Amino acid sequence: MDTIIPARLNSGWSPASWRDCPIKQVPVYPDAAKLAAMEARLTRFPPLVFAGEARRLKASLALAATGQAFVLQGGDCAESFGDFTANVIRDTFRVLLQMAVVLTFGGSMPVVKLGRMAGQFAKPRSSDSETIDGVTLPSYRGDIVNGPEFSAQARMPDESRMEFGYFQSAGTLNLLRAFASGGYADLHEVHRWNLDFVEKSPLAARYRDLSARIDETLAFMAACGLTSVSAPQIRETDFFTSHESLLLPYEQALTRVDSTTGDYYACSAHFLWIGDRTRQPDGAHVEFLRGVKNPIGLKVGPTTTVDDLLKLMEILDPANEPGRLSLIARMGADKVNEKLTPLVRAVRQAGRTPVWLCDPMHGNTISTAAKIKTRRFDAIVSELRSFFDIHEAEGTVAGGAHVEMTGQDVTECVGGARGLSEEDLGNRYETFCDPRLNAEQALELAFLLAEELKTRRAKRAHS
Ligand code: PEP
Ligand code: CO
Repeated sequence: MDTIIPARLNSGWSPASWRDCPIKQVPVYPDAAKLAAMEARLTRFPPLVFAGEARRLKASLALAATGQAFVLQGGDCAESFGDFTANVIRDTFRVLLQMAVVLTFGGSMPVVKLGRMAGQFAKPRSSDSETIDGVTLPSYRGDIVNGPEFSAQARMPDESRMEFGYFQSAGTLNLLRAFASGGYADLHEVHRWNLDFVEKSPLAARYRDLSARIDETLAFMAACGLTSVSAPQIRETDFFTSHESLLLPYEQALTRVDSTTGDYYACSAHFLWIGDRTRQPDGAHVEFLRGVKNPIGLKVGPTTTVDDLLKLMEILDPANEPGRLSLIARMGADKVNEKLTPLVRAVRQAGRTPVWLCDPMHGNTISTAAKIKTRRFDAIVSELRSFFDIHEAEGTVAGGAHVEMTGQDVTECVGGARGLSEEDLGNRYETFCDPRLNAEQALELAFLLAEELKTRRAKRAHS
């Protein structure tokens, strides 16, 4: 490559080197000494994930980069301290499992399961402040920073929230690990993952049919001697966690040296990504993630140029290491052809093989006449289909999907099998941040994705 590498790449990285770079989206804490004390406290806490797990995820992502696996990344836009219950965690986990089984069975593809869970608390905002009825207060930046209520006290950044975020992440991860390996994810339980309210949905019959086919397959496998005992893959699954690497004091405090390799890992989650608002090549967020060995993601939006992207890839993944970098494209259904095609082509021509993921949510947020933020299910599906088309045309790999969804029966996105309308949005609009697919819409999306995977595979086999 030419001279696009900034000079600082040759200078040393440390977990704190981001502090010397320009930074965006940073909360202003009222008491620097208290913030420093909290960082010191978190630095002594045990890691939430282990380097070996992050390496295992990286190896799975390397398979997705070359079309041998498909990535399903999903969860809340923002997890909330108020909604920290076993039911919320279980319901999101089981919709992700359902989606994954639909993709694995329907699309005949191993699925890498990556939750936006156990740490997805910090949010970037388009404005630093919010004004209501002449009163201006700092914007809400996610529960790990401040509170959503519109009061001076709630909106003041509070460093003690980092400690609560750490423990909520630990509690969530503990349950996720138990679900993933303690029997809940056993393929014999496939029917039981269906949530009550989806039972009444037009999709229920389709899911029951798939469950019955899986049962039949399991019975056949058992007759051949492959059971939950002899093949642990039947009774347990790998489930990984991810969140936006936004609140750098917290991320730095949870960065650890892996004793087996001597490398630094961010230990707040297996996978961290850089958001669309903080991807400046010389900025603090890029500086922080370039030095940790985890698999990482980079959001790629409509304003990302080819030059920006190649420069960022060189900084974040100089060795073009398999599985290291996932590019999460979030263009919007109406822009994706025009904006994504040149990027995919340039990345291929540069000889790079990142995992390309499609985030069909963040480019498709609209405001209704009643000023409610929503997303149209049709626009989400349309961006995903275009994403597959672009990769097919360019001879590259559509590696996975990144969605905002929940296991709850919310009414935040319009459309889907039940035809939610703008009038329905008021019924159960519960998000603190972006509108999420409900369990039924998420499952429907998985069926559509599985069909895409199947038809593209059939086309390749015939070509
Ligand atoms: C998000 O993933 O919730 C988000 C804020 O996305 P983006 O950075 O792509 O806008
Ligand atoms: Co969001």
